[in-house]
This record gives sequence, C-alpha cells and structure tokens, in this order.
Amino acid sequence: MATLEIRDLHVSVQTEDGPKEILKGVDLSIKSGETHAIMGPNGSGKSTLAYSVAGHPKYTVTSGTITLDGADVLAMSVDERARAGLFLAMQYPVEVPGVTVSNFLRTAKTAIDGEAPKLRTWVKDVKGAMANLRMDPAFAERDVNAGFSGGEKKRHEILQLELLKPSIAVLDETDSGLDVDALRIVSEGVNRAQAENGTGILLITHYTRILNYIAPDFVHVFVDGRVAEQGGPELAAQLEAEGYDRFTAAQQA
Ligand SMILES: Nc1ncnc2c1ncn2[C@@H]1O[C@H](COP(=O)(O)OP(=O)(O)OP(=O)(O)O)[C@@H](O)[C@H]1O
Ligand SMILES: [Mg+2]
Repeated sequence: MATLEIRDLHVSVQTEDGPKEILKGVDLSIKSGETHAIMGPNGSGKSTLAYSVAGHPKYTVTSGTITLDGADVLAMSVDERARAGLFLAMQYPVEVPGVTVSNFLRTAKTAIDGEAPKLRTWVKDVKGAMANLRMDPAFAERDVNAGFSGGEKKRHEILQLELLKPSIAVLDETDSGLDVDALRIVSEGVNRAQAENGTGILLITHYTRILNYIAPDFVHVFVDGRVAEQGGPELAAQLEAEGYDRFTAAQQA
C-alpha cells in the first residue's frame, strides 16, 4: 500500500514581474488502487500540481508538504521520486531525438529497479505491452516522441506506465487528442496497470468521456490553485452539465 499526501501546498513560478503564486493551498491524498479525477478550468494550476509532484525545477514550493508513505518527496530529486514509485504522464510529452524508445524504456526500468531487467522477459514484456496498446513494434526503434502524432505520444506515456509499474501515477490530460479507439485502448492500459500493480491514479482531465472507461472513486474540482470541491463520480457529470461558473463566481466575489 502506498499513500501520496499533499498538504497545504503552495507553489510559485518565476515571472518577469517576480514570483507568481499558482498553487494556493492544495490538499489531496491518494492511496494505492484508488482513482482520483481532477477537473478544472484552463490555467487553474492542474499541470503545475502534476509538475510539482514530479519535481520540475521551474516550480518553487513555498510552503506545504508532499509525502509518499511518510517520506518527504520535496527533499527528493526527480529521479529519486521516480525510484520511490511516482510517475508522471505529461500533458505535452517531450521529444528526445537520438534516444530510441527501446533504449529509453530499458534505461528507465534499470534506473527505477536498480538492476537491468532480464533481457528475455523484458523483450517479451515490451512487445506484449506495445501489442496491448496497439502500437506498431516499429516504434521501439524510433526516437522518443520525435515526429510522433499527439495520440502516439499519449500511448507512449501509457506504455511507460505499464512497464515501469509505479505505485502512484499522475496522468495529465492523457485523453486529450485521442481518437475514440485510442481513448478506449489507453484507458484499458491504465485499468490494467491499476489491476496488476495496484497503482493509485490521479487523472487530470477536461472531459467525462474518459471517466466512462476509467471509473473515478473521487472527483476534485480544481479552481484558482486549490481544490474547491470534492465528490464522487456524479460531480463530473454535474460539471459537464453546469460548467465552473458557480466556482469561479465564488472566486471573484
Ligand atoms: N512563467 C510564467 N509566468 C506567468 N504565468 C505563468 C508562468 N508559468 C505558468 N504560469 C501560469 O500558471 C497558471 C497555471 O498553469 P497550468 O499549466 O498549471 O494550468 P492548467 O490547469 O494545467 O491548465 P490547462 O487546463 O490549460 O492545461 C496559468 O495561468 C499559467 O499562465
Ligand atoms: Mg494543464
């Protein structure tokens, strides 16, 4: 069992006019096997939260805590966080020319496990995971995300999720830009990772459609740098019908 606890998290970014506070007291707790959805308006700070958990240097934590099973995540480097069991599927996956998918996955797996995976089972695992995600085996020899379509990049994020087996995964708009078949295939990949490894999932999304495939236990409404309301799956349907007016109006008042 793993528990990621975010307590009263405040995060700033450096701007030309000095530091600007983006996260204004986030409280969130995710356990193994749970699925949490975060929905909220553009610019409310959802990706900032995802990057802050992963340890992106652009974001400065000014107060609050993030712990994984009691261990201080904020004291860890990015790779220590990955080794501790945290995973981020980025909203905009980066291209890494010169590094093949196959090389990247094996290097990541070796770094996270502390030893190289056994070649025979590893090759089988990669092939199996790619087949599950309906990825052409040719992708293994292409450079990471270089020239991948938007949807292909998202599948590659979930391929990593399936192979690296994190205890807690943050998926930032993994559903954006996927065609209807890809949405189902990627969702099945997330559900498999959860069923097989007990991964706790924090799913950032704008759309309820993915939530038909990946059933959330909890839905959090994220507005202006904090969680404005929490509920069950019914909250997602309500947001889809009513939008964020009642939250943003409260914020302006
Ligand atoms: N360097 C910067 N200067 C000024 N504002 C910044 C800077 N970096 C980030 N921000 C602001 O931080 C806010 C939060 O951005 P973030 O990407 O976390 O939003 P989001 O909730 O993920 O939005 P979306 O739904 O569009 O993905 C935005 O308003 C963004 O413009
Ligand atoms: Mg975002």
